[in-house]
Amino acid sequence: MTTELNPEIGEPSETVTFAGIDRETLVATGSEWWRSAVIYQIYPRSFADSDGDGLGDLAGITSRLPSLKELGVDAIWLSPFFTSPQHDAGYDVADYRDVDPRFGTLADFDTLLAETHALGIRLIVDLVPNHTSWDHAWFKAALAAPEGSEERERYMFRDGLGPNGDLPPNNWESVFGGPMWSRTTNADGTPGQWYLHIFDISQPDLNWENEWVKAQFKDILRFWLDRGVDGFRVDVAHGLIKEDGLPDYTPPAEAGSMGGGAIPLEVDPDDLDSIPTPPYWAQDAVHEIYRGWNEVLNEYEGDRVLCAEAWVEPLNKLARWVRSDEMHQAFNFTYLTANWSAEELRLVIDTSIAAFATVGAPSTWVLSNHDVIRHATRLSLGPGHLQGDGIGPRTDDRPDPVAGVRRARAATAVMLALPGSAYIYQGEEFGLPESIDLPDEARQDPTWFRTHGERYGRDGCRVPIPWEAGAPSYGFGPADATWLPQPEGWDEYARDSQSGVPGSTLELYKLALALRGENDFGFGSVEWLDDLGFGTDVLAFTNNGVTVIANTGTTPVELPLEELGELLLASDPVDEAVLAPDTTVWMRSA
Ligand code: GLC
Repeated sequence: MTTELNPEIGEPSETVTFAGIDRETLVATGSEWWRSAVIYQIYPRSFADSDGDGLGDLAGITSRLPSLKELGVDAIWLSPFFTSPQHDAGYDVADYRDVDPRFGTLADFDTLLAETHALGIRLIVDLVPNHTSWDHAWFKAALAAPEGSEERERYMFRDGLGPNGDLPPNNWESVFGGPMWSRTTNADGTPGQWYLHIFDISQPDLNWENEWVKAQFKDILRFWLDRGVDGFRVDVAHGLIKEDGLPDYTPPAEAGSMGGGAIPLEVDPDDLDSIPTPPYWAQDAVHEIYRGWNEVLNEYEGDRVLCAEAWVEPLNKLARWVRSDEMHQAFNFTYLTANWSAEELRLVIDTSIAAFATVGAPSTWVLSNHDVIRHATRLSLGPGHLQGDGIGPRTDDRPDPVAGVRRARAATAVMLALPGSAYIYQGEEFGLPESIDLPDEARQDPTWFRTHGERYGRDGCRVPIPWEAGAPSYGFGPADATWLPQPEGWDEYARDSQSGVPGSTLELYKLALALRGENDFGFGSVEWLDDLGFGTDVLAFTNNGVTVIANTGTTPVELPLEELGELLLASDPVDEAVLAPDTTVWMRSA
């Protein structure tokens, strides 16, 4: 089934050049909407629940689509809703071609897609190729088949070390903690081979050197493209290929569990291949796979997109994922992990734009998602909170909710003024903080279990979001049930408490998105304003004639209003001409 796109979308105007490509050419060739799009991430379990079972679902999403139209996003990315035992919240897929009954049916998906398109919004879905669920028929067949069989070749089975093979094949540690290997039991009850799982024991890694696996995934892409999706967010797009021989490896302490984080921001292109690469991340052979997928997308009319979740640094190495015959976008996690510091942000922004421009791709910008501490909380914490660590009752570093949301608003106002494509995570438009006091017994992230509570994991950013103040489950669903408990006191964050209220975070997002579109920021460029005389704590640039000034420091600064003209947007009120700390303004010369 395919659906018609509302003709309103993808209507770029003037002859602006973007990354050296003339905009009119882009429009003529199908608009490449993703170059400038604002894409809203829906985490289906926690967005809206239509049946009151406490878990969000596809019908719930469909019912809330008008709110996203009002917000002004260009596209939606849906985290997994496929058949799954839900050991990793759906990132453990047991059938890539069906909807888990907890979320609905394929017919519900078709309705959601048709209604999304009718509103002029695109829809991309999540593809999880690195691993399947252990409930997937392929893995069950592999377990039932003998060592060395075709079925086992589709996964990463190996013999153990030591005289009885009871030691894992190497020392790799899972992203969620504990060993990256688990041992199987043979039909006769004796211990068998081991299988690799970068993540949970329930997520066996596929063997991406295997031609059968490669062919299956091309068909899975076609299955969803045939239904009319506009593209895919590709999970763990830096993990599919492992180094030959699977050598032992211990990551540096400062590296994030997903990779990256221990490498300078800029590395000379000639030295890129000599930076140390973990044997399970960012192996060169992954690129061949994405070239194949790019060809599959090209079999289809319209403008479909692949977005890589690849925690690869430095940025000029990440740019390899978005070469013109591979993917189209990659999440910019270097930006997400940057501190709220004008100097640091400027460097990351410049480096990002330059790195992606070398391959003709736009940069993306992102501050929150379902794997990291929400930025309304994170930005009030000190450094050192690595991906997946989470925050909870025993964390020493306590967030400051007031400072956090103020910084989050200011940071979002910087992000949404940048050229390229921006990602928004559900609930950030309400200024929603991380839920930091979840009781231990409510936690569900495998990280929590596999580290025996040492790392809190990601549940705190996944709590069902509030729609209506005072309603059961804050309007998440018709009942009070929610799969993770919602904190007391979320009435103020509920959408209906903010809708139409000047100065609310929701209205700030709406205004920012409307102005971003009107001023064509997505296709613009960043020109730094060094002659306004601000110190190093202030970020000041123009994009398409709009001046953006952000005060990341602790002292107020004076704004030269006569020079800067009309105030279009302020992340928090501006008194007289004083830009308070943690505030961003957009201004336009008269
Ligand atoms: C990605 C997802 C994360 C998931 C992991 C394993 O990082 O974003 O939520 O746990 O992959 O699939």
